[in-house]
Amino acid sequence: MDNNAIQKTNLSNIKKIIIIASGKGGVGKSTVAAGLAVSLALEGYSTGLLDADIYGPSAPTLFNLMCEMPDVELIDGKNYVTPFTNFGVKVMSIGFFIDPAEAVIWRGPRASSGLTQLLKDTNWGELDYLIIDTPPGTGDVHITLLQNFMPTGVIVVTTPQEMALSDVKKAINMYSDKQIGIPILGVVENMSWFTPVNHPDEKYYIFGNGGGERLAKEFNVPLLAQIPINEKMCKSCDNGKMNELFTDPAIKAAFEQLADSIQ
Ligand SMILES: Nc1ncnc2c1ncn2[C@@H]1O[C@H](COP(=O)(O)OP(=O)(O)OP(=O)(O)O)[C@@H](O)[C@H]1O
Ligand SMILES: [Mg+2]
Repeated sequence: MDNNAIQKTNLSNIKKIIIIASGKGGVGKSTVAAGLAVSLALEGYSTGLLDADIYGPSAPTLFNLMCEMPDVELIDGKNYVTPFTNFGVKVMSIGFFIDPAEAVIWRGPRASSGLTQLLKDTNWGELDYLIIDTPPGTGDVHITLLQNFMPTGVIVVTTPQEMALSDVKKAINMYSDKQIGIPILGVVENMSWFTPVNHPDEKYYIFGNGGGERLAKEFNVPLLAQIPINEKMCKSCDNGKMNELFTDPAIKAAFEQLADSIQ
């Protein structure tokens, strides 16, 4: 694949575009993308989140925007969709536009043009950061982002166990491809350990210990953050209450560390 073959779109109103990816499903990409975006917004950065997961969009749930439909506005003779703002983050999701039943047939050119249009035709305004949540794997969405845009880099999410790691390595290899690759900013290890509420000094390494660190070392990239397993995580996220998540000091600290690591 030749990276120069396609004219790339330069989104000059956005300073940094950060992709959140993983070869593996269910490791916490969407949670990490949302948590990072909220954390950056809390630090005062103008932040957007694009949910590019055509097969399982999460942002409408995470940001409490179910059944919402974005407005369209005419700017200089062109139509733009208006992102929603929640928890200080401008949110746009491909899930606002596609019927979940249709998503499976969104492949190849259709997925590519839909995503490109969404990224270009959203009225983001001036952003310091645009965080892009992607589907698992290394498919059309990832290739489109790499070929059609100029992302600053990618954060790779993994859980500590080896099976997750081997899938994640495939994604790292694609993102570091000589032709279409971009900088790997580092690894986030999610679900690193569990600390019971009544025993705040104890850590139980339920999925193993040190997997994220080994992965980071193998690819010579930093381990940006370790996010503990948190009982509130599922509940807060499923109910669109990202703010509740940040009331847990360990979770807040992990996301702050992640936000600081990419500045
Ligand atoms: N640190 C954590 N502690 C507890 N639950 C978590 C944690 N991280 C993620 N989860 C939960 O695990 C589930 C999967 O997380 P999430 O949807 O973020 O993964 P994903 O990688 O985006 O999945 P997919 O590949 O389907 O897009 C969610 O229910 C989420 O709330
Ligand atoms: Mg997801």
